[in-house]
Amino acid sequence: MSTAKSALIIGASRGLGLGLVRELLQRGWDVAATVRDVVHPGELADLPVRIEPLLLDDIHSQDRLAEALSGSRFDLVFINAGIYGPAHQSTIDASLADVGQLFMVNAVAPLRLAERLLPHLDGERGVLAFMTSELGSVAGNESGGMALYRASKAALNSLTRSFVAELGETGITVLNLHPGWVRTDMGGDAAPLEVHTSVKGLADQVENHAGRGGQFYLDYQGTTIDW
Ligand SMILES: NC(=O)c1ccc[n+]([C@@H]2O[C@H](COP(=O)([O-])OP(=O)(O)OC[C@H]3O[C@@H](n4cnc5c(N)ncnc54)[C@H](OP(=O)(O)O)[C@@H]3O)[C@@H](O)[C@H]2O)c1
Repeated sequence: MSTAKSALIIGASRGLGLGLVRELLQRGWDVAATVRDVVHPGELADLPVRIEPLLLDDIHSQDRLAEALSGSRFDLVFINAGIYGPAHQSTIDASLADVGQLFMVNAVAPLRLAERLLPHLDGERGVLAFMTSELGSVAGNESGGMALYRASKAALNSLTRSFVAELGETGITVLNLHPGWVRTDMGGDAAPLEVHTSVKGLADQVENHAGRGGQFYLDYQGTTIDW
């Protein structure tokens, strides 16, 4: 029987999700990962991982994933997938569809998925990680900018706090992680951090916090962020 730790990474076709898969494999973890399009999983196809389909904002897709994973147990479930929303980021110009999709993908759907996947997480040392952003900090918002994206991550943070409050006594640790500003399709070319630097730090936080219990809002270097 394998004694390797096991992870499920949600949203691993590219960017930070793909980077996390690579980093955990390097550390000897068994990794399962989800992509929207299993026919075209991109670079994930070349890695020794179990690939499952998931459209995060589709409840039926979430049900199918939970069913496909029946009998699986993970030390880490990392809900990474996210979107930026409309480029203008303006509350004046945003349509109902823009706002609905942004808040569903970034805030509501991750919590729905967390509820479904909780039975698959190790109850004593399991880590449930949400990829949030420092921009989701209400306390830290002194500059404004990226208003809609920021609000969607603040909503994610708020929903995770409700989730943890209602979880009751458990050994599970919940991490709200900020990856830094990272050079991905979302982060853009001006971002100072490479994916491999960010994911190394994120994996360190996961390994350092397993078994602690409770909830932490941290960046990839382990620095606490004010809610
Ligand atoms: N990059 C940064 O500087 C930065 C900073 C702070 C926080 N973050 C957060 O980090 C996470 C990953 O960002 P990234 O920079 O790696 O972004 P990215 O390169 O744009 O990748 C986004 C990932 O999310 C998946 N995804 C998007 N919508 C989905 C949906 N409805 N269902 C399933 N999967 C979906 C994408 O899949 P497809 O390939 O199928 O589209 C892709 O794998 C996001 O939550 C983001 O908000 C990033």
